[in-house]
Amino acid sequence: MGLVRPTRWPAITDGDRAAVTRVLDRGVLSGAAAPEIRGLEAEFAAAVGARFCLATNSGTAALHIALAAAGIGAGDEVIVPALSFIATAQAVLYEGATPVFADIDPVTYNIDPADAARRVTERTRAVVPVHLHGLPADMDAINALAQGAGLTVIEDAAQAHGALYKGRAVGTLGVMAAFSLNSTKNLPAGEGGLCVTGSEELYAGAARVRFDGLEPPSKWDPGHPLDDETDGLATLRGWMYLPGELTAALARSQLPRLAETTARSQRNAARLSERLERFPGVEPPAVPRDRTHVFHKYRVRVDPERAGVRHSAIALRDRLLEALRAEGVEAVRWQTAPLPAHPLFASTSGERYPNASAALDSTLVIGSQSYPLFAQPLEVVDAWADGFERAWNAILT
Ligand SMILES: Cc1ncc(COP(=O)(O)O)c(C=O)c1O
Repeated sequence: MGLVRPTRWPAITDGDRAAVTRVLDRGVLSGAAAPEIRGLEAEFAAAVGARFCLATNSGTAALHIALAAAGIGAGDEVIVPALSFIATAQAVLYEGATPVFADIDPVTYNIDPADAARRVTERTRAVVPVHLHGLPADMDAINALAQGAGLTVIEDAAQAHGALYKGRAVGTLGVMAAFSLNSTKNLPAGEGGLCVTGSEELYAGAARVRFDGLEPPSKWDPGHPLDDETDGLATLRGWMYLPGELTAALARSQLPRLAETTARSQRNAARLSERLERFPGVEPPAVPRDRTHVFHKYRVRVDPERAGVRHSAIALRDRLLEALRAEGVEAVRWQTAPLPAHPLFASTSGERYPNASAALDSTLVIGSQSYPLFAQPLEVVDAWADGFERAWNAILT
């Protein structure tokens, strides 16, 4: 096993280096209307099939400008899943609103629309389904809920670039959507984000929130690249969330490779699942027939009862994690607690989220952020499958 070295993420090509060098040679490093930012926005909007796109300096910022543009504010409630990265809830707090957690579906790990419906109050204004690990949430049910209760749907697609729901790309399934360009993601550019929408009005509002409340310049003068933002007057409260040109150029250079990353990810996941589903008590990620999964993370559940062992789920998971690492298989626990159990919220929320807790207790992720499954050649996938088999057999005996 030790002979097959895993591939580290992110992949950087000569094309990426050339793209960054072109920016340095041009000598224009920033600007809301600068060429790399504008190019990235146009190209990503086209890739997703969205009318408008705004590049930001993080996925969290992309989520925040979406919430702000949708008019979410103090006193409002926003429903978010109990299992996600903390940014999903933090962006709601940025606006002075309250994140209200809904439990997840135990099979898909995504927000459970029925539990979300139970959380709606007269103060609820929006719902943020997260397409966790690259699997689209149950969007028909979420949109039906939103329509009935008058909520804005903002997709958190930070982990799901390129995933499809009923043939439609994530990012076009709600009113607005946020993607992340963080180095760990399937479209990695260091730190950055992308906010997309089909609404011109929300786009205009989000553009101002992104740029200190100012309207972005409509023209860009290559002779005076830094003099494009001097005349604006602020019309609302905003933040400074513009990305720089180096990041935008790197993201643009990476974008044409996203389809290849998705295909490799799906190939690897299929190969690994085909091996793992043979072991009673091991449950590879489920993919409902009406959507595609881009496997940003590959989460495996272990069931002590079906495996025929006396351990608790937590004990079995921990033993497996240790045994996998001993076999040289990259494996991690991504998120160790549901969001409402973070100390930030624990004092206000005594509530339990049984499905989110059970999912975290009984699962682990194959591949790490530095060496994700989606980056690997087949020899590494097969070596990890062999290592899993040895680890599993060792802990069952
Ligand atoms: C589900 C989810 N939402 C939001 C974010 C925030 O993205 P960023 O780290 O680019 O701010 C992330 C990324 O880590 C994420 O995984």
